[in-house]
Amino acid sequence: MVTTPDLELLKAAVEAQSYAHCPFSNYPVGAAVRTGSGKVYTGCNVESASFSLTCCAERVAIFKAVSEGERNIVACAIVTDEKVPAPPCGACRQVLHEFGPQMRIVLGDGGDAVRILSLPDLLPEGFSADQVLSPRR
Ligand code: THU
Repeated sequence: MVTTPDLELLKAAVEAQSYAHCPFSNYPVGAAVRTGSGKVYTGCNVESASFSLTCCAERVAIFKAVSEGERNIVACAIVTDEKVPAPPCGACRQVLHEFGPQMRIVLGDGGDAVRILSLPDLLPEGFSADQVLSPRR
C-alpha cells in the first residue's frame, strides 16, 4: 500500500532528479532516503566523462545522509523517466543494505505509477558487517 510518507519521499526524489548530471546517458535518476529520525536526504546521478566514475542517485543520497551522521535508513524512493518503475542497480542494493537491510523501497516512473518493495526482495542474503566482523575460522 502506498502511504502519504511514500508520496512525500517520491516528491523529494522527483525534485532531486531535476539536478541529474547525465549528459552521456541522458537517463536522469532521482533518489530520496528517509532516516529513522525522519530526516530526508536526496541525490541524483552524477556522471563523469571518465564513465566508470559515475555515481548513482541512490548512493549519492545515502552518502549525503551518512556524511551528516546518519546510519539508519528506513526508506528509499527512486524515480526515473521509464514507463515502468526501475529498480536500483546491484551496487546500490549492496550499499543500501549496509544502512538499512529491511529498508522500504518506493519506485516511481515518469508518471503516476508507484511500486512498493522491500530491500530483502531485491537483495536476499546481502553481504553484511556480520560476515566481516565474525571470528575467522
Ligand atoms: N543509475 C542510477 O542513478 N541508479 C541506478 O540504480 C541505476 C543507474 C544511473 C547511472 C547512470 O548515470 C545512468 O543511470 C545510466 O545507467
